[in-house]
Amino acid sequence: MTRPSPIFVLLLSFACFGLSIGALAAGTDKSESKKEAEIKRGKDLFVKATCWGCHAHGDNAMHPDKPLKGPAFEKQFQNDEEIVKFVRKGSKFGMPPFPKSKLSDSDLQSIIVYIRSLSPTHAK
Ligand code: HEC
Repeated sequence: MTRPSPIFVLLLSFACFGLSIGALAAGTDKSESKKEAEIKRGKDLFVKATCWGCHAHGDNAMHPDKPLKGPAFEKQFQNDEEIVKFVRKGSKFGMPPFPKSKLSDSDLQSIIVYIRSLSPTHAK
């Protein structure tokens, strides 16, 4: 039996390598775009639920020192559950409450995905 030429083996390994990298990249692309779709859905709901009126781009029109992003926000709202509580209850400093009748749990979860996307440093 003749041994396959080294060049052939080399080419074959390149081909396999290329294929696996390709598959890997395609996989990442897919989960990336899924994440982006989730964020986009959250943003649409954020606009629809009127949050955008006071918090365009995650800023705070009424209290500029209380944006929905950045280190201070991330520190105060480490768990998503704390954001849920705050939004449900509102605050006496101008944030209206959003009970379930106004905003469903699943819509609020999507909104939180959008809010978290504004602070890229947030630990996933
Ligand atoms: C009428 C204006 C207004 C609307 C509408 C509004 N907010 Fe707010 N929001 C505020 C104000 C004012 C504060 C600061 C209140 C405070 O610090 O007690 C705030 C604070 C927050 C905070 C805490 C930020 C921090 O750093 O302490 C979160 C989270 C938040 N809003 C989310 C939302 C979401 C989500 C929506 C939509 C469902 C929404 N807000 C709609 C005015 C608004």
